Amino acid sequence: MVATGRDEAPATLKPDYDRASELKAFDETKLGVKGLVDAGITEIPRIFYQPPDDFDNTSVSGDTHSCIPVIDLHGIDQDVIKRKEVVERLRDASETWGFFQVVNHTIPVSVLEEMKEGVRRFFEQDNDVRKELYTRDLTRKLVYNSNFDLYSAPATCWRDTFLCIMAPDPPNSEDLPAVCRDIMEEYSKQVMNLGILLLELLSEALGLKAEHLNDIDCGEGVAVLCHYYPACPQPELTMGAGTHTDNDFFTVLLQDHIGGLQVSYQDKWIDVPPVAGALVVNIGDLLQLITNDRFKSGGHRVLANREGPRVSVASFFCTGLRQTSKVYGPIKELLSEDNPPRYRETTVRDYCASFDETDLDGTSALPRFRI
Ligand code: OGA
Ligand code: NI
Repeated sequence: MVATGRDEAPATLKPDYDRASELKAFDETKLGVKGLVDAGITEIPRIFYQPPDDFDNTSVSGDTHSCIPVIDLHGIDQDVIKRKEVVERLRDASETWGFFQVVNHTIPVSVLEEMKEGVRRFFEQDNDVRKELYTRDLTRKLVYNSNFDLYSAPATCWRDTFLCIMAPDPPNSEDLPAVCRDIMEEYSKQVMNLGILLLELLSEALGLKAEHLNDIDCGEGVAVLCHYYPACPQPELTMGAGTHTDNDFFTVLLQDHIGGLQVSYQDKWIDVPPVAGALVVNIGDLLQLITNDRFKSGGHRVLANREGPRVSVASFFCTGLRQTSKVYGPIKELLSEDNPPRYRETTVRDYCASFDETDLDGTSALPRFRI
């Protein structure tokens, strides 16, 4: 199946309009992309037009040679052989795609369903309540806006988001949105437990002791990003999320049934199809750095869609811009004469700060840390 047949988008590299004031006007509505759709627009504003380059690659899916693996974690605690098989598959996926899906991952499907519902409730609550919460102040406990990089990205994406840092210092319940407070706390707790398990399996996949990645605190910080991708009247002109890699250790993504997430692999875009009850896991830049390029931080994007809204929840395992003294570099046990360190050491904070300084055009900050 070919997922897209896209028309060429208008070139926007040098906008021939006052982009800055159109961005400001959009931001000041405080209602995000959803506000535009609620107003009944049939043509998308030009701030959302993507540069044509993004559409050059063909998209493929459903091809058995290029499918993101779906890995069943059932029984790995009881059955050593099963665990070994799972670890091998995780290793293979992390080395080639940087992406895999997991089922029977310990989080009850009812929690996943309620989390998606909670996100929908947040975005679909009264405009006045949402406007109150809209902010670009990243020090707030709850940050809700449209496009974190609105003023720096070359093109605006068809997406609104709210974000909470749920660990290591969780917010008070009152700081979370009233319409999804309980489920955010429950989901975060569950996703952190799953994170610990995934880090054990990934440690084993690297030939390290199971505790290694947890001992160096790769699962210490979690930011939960809740995305809302409204139905788009002209999906061929824009993107739900532009091409990027994640600047964390790894991300656990809950997506709904709509689809549109794609991962880049050998110059092709491969769909990450929705699988009921599954969670998508992807390797981030920091895990690529500490594994000395053994695991890949896979480039990915989200297509805009006539169908919607699409809801997703991305849990970023990372302490982000918080001050911690921990320094990360290629793991010594993985290095040898034939495999010398390819990256210099850094703190998560410095890495993330450097990422923020990049052009936000999808290029990762990893090359800046190469030796
Ligand atoms: C992200 C991301 C994908 C999605 O939040 O970094 O890639 O499907 N999200 O929302
Ligand atoms: Ni991402």
